[in-house]
Amino acid sequence: MLNSRAMNDALLAELRRLDGQTHLHPFTDHAAMHQRGTHVMESGSGCVLVDEVGRNLLDGLAGLWCVNVGYGRREIVDAVAEQMAKLSFYCSFFETTTEPTIRVAAWLAERAPGRLERVFFTNSGSEANESALKIIRAWQKLRGKSSKHKILSRTFSYHGVGIATTSLTGLPNCTDPFDLPLPGFVRIPGPYTYASGSGLDDAAYGAWCIDETERVIEREGADTIAAMFVEPVQGAGGVILPPAGYLGALRELCRRHDILFVADEVITAFGRLGVWFASEMWDLDPDIMTVAKGLTSGYLPLGATLVSGEIAAALETNGYFAHGFTYSGHPVPAAAALANLAILEREDLPGRVRTDVGPYFQNKIQALRTDPLVGEARGLGLIGAIELRVSPEVAAPGTAGVRAAALAREEGVIVRGIRDLIAISPPLVISHEEIDRLFAALARVLDRLRG
Ligand SMILES: Cc1ncc(COP(=O)(O)O)c(C=O)c1O
Repeated sequence: MLNSRAMNDALLAELRRLDGQTHLHPFTDHAAMHQRGTHVMESGSGCVLVDEVGRNLLDGLAGLWCVNVGYGRREIVDAVAEQMAKLSFYCSFFETTTEPTIRVAAWLAERAPGRLERVFFTNSGSEANESALKIIRAWQKLRGKSSKHKILSRTFSYHGVGIATTSLTGLPNCTDPFDLPLPGFVRIPGPYTYASGSGLDDAAYGAWCIDETERVIEREGADTIAAMFVEPVQGAGGVILPPAGYLGALRELCRRHDILFVADEVITAFGRLGVWFASEMWDLDPDIMTVAKGLTSGYLPLGATLVSGEIAAALETNGYFAHGFTYSGHPVPAAAALANLAILEREDLPGRVRTDVGPYFQNKIQALRTDPLVGEARGLGLIGAIELRVSPEVAAPGTAGVRAAALAREEGVIVRGIRDLIAISPPLVISHEEIDRLFAALARVLDRLRG
C-alpha cells in the first residue's frame, strides 16, 4: 500500500475549477464529470494508484491497457533522466538518429514475428496505424497497383482517433459524431458472438464472419482492396476473442486475394496474452504490425509501425520517403522503451502471464460465469471481460458497464466500463493477492447491482 497525503481541500478545489475552465478531456462526458468533480491522480507504485483524497486504488486497467511493468519503476525513470541530461532531443531526419532509437529499432526487428524487418517510429498507436495506411498506399502505388486503395476493418475494432484511423475504427460512437468513415474504409464483421444474437456457437459464428468477409471482398473486388487491419484480440471494442480457426482463415483470405494483413498489436504486444506478440500465437505472419502502449509501459509516448522486408525494400529504393513526425524516434521515449523492455525480459513477464498470473486471473473470470448477472465472462492471459445482464431499473441498456466501473472505483479498483460489460487488463506484475482483491471488489459490485 502506498502512503500519500491527501491533497488539501483548497488545492483540490482550485485544480477542479481550473480543469473545468480550461481542459477539454479525451473521451469524456464533460457535463457529468464537472458535476461530480474531476479525479486528480497523485502517484502510483506497482499496480496501485493514489487519488486526490489519498485513497489507494488497485489499477485493473494498467492505465489504458499500457502500464505493463507497473508504476514507479526507478530503472525507467533513471534511464529517461540520463538520456534527457545527455541529449534531450534530436530528430531522425537529416540522415541522423540517436543510439537509443537505433537500439529499440534493432530490438524490435530482431524480436518481431515473421518477416517484419524495419521499424518506423511514431508517438502513439493512432500515428502508427496512420503511418501504416500511408505506407500501404505508397507500396501499392510503387508496385503499380494504385487501384488497390480500399481498407477493410472489423466491426467493434478500435484503431485510433485520426481522421483515417477513426475511419478504420468499427465503433459507431467513435465514427458517428464526426461523419466518418471516409469513403474507401469498408467494414467486415468482428467475431463478437455474444452480441450477435445469432444463436451460433463461437466457432460457427467465426466461420460465418469468414464467409461474410469473403462476400465483402467479392462485392468490392479484390483488385480494389489494399489491406485489412486486425487486432488479434479486440480490446477497446469489448475484449473480443478470436474463435478457434478464425484468425488463420482471415489471414488465408488476405493471402489468397493479395490483400496486405496488418496486425494492430497496440494492446496485445509485450506480454499481455502471455507471449511477446499475439501474431506469434496465431502464426499470423503480418505484412505490417503496429505497436505502442506496452513498448514503454506508458512511461512516455512511443509507437511504431513495423514492415516486412519486401515493403521496406520498395520504400527504401524508390527515392525520398516523404513521411515522418518531428518526434519520430525521439531518444527519450526510446530510452524509456529500452529500460522497459529490459524489465519485461529480465522478469520474463510474458512467461509469468502465460504460466502463473494469467491462468490464476482466468480462473477467477471463469468462476463468475455462474452468476445470474453475468451473461458471459471471457478472457485470455491478463485481459478479460464480464458481460452484465442487468435490468433497465439498474442501468439503461448500454450503460451498465460504466455504472459498474463507477461502483468498482468506490470499492477501490479501476476497471473500464464499455457498453454493458466490464473490461479488465491489469499490469503484468499483478500479484495473486491483488487479483483476489480485484475480484472481491467486483463481487461486491455485482452485489450492489443486484440491489
Ligand atoms: C488496438 C489499438 N490500436 C490503436 C490505438 C490507438 O492508440 P493511441 O491511443 O496511442 O493513439 C489503441 C488505443 O487504445 C488501441 O487499443
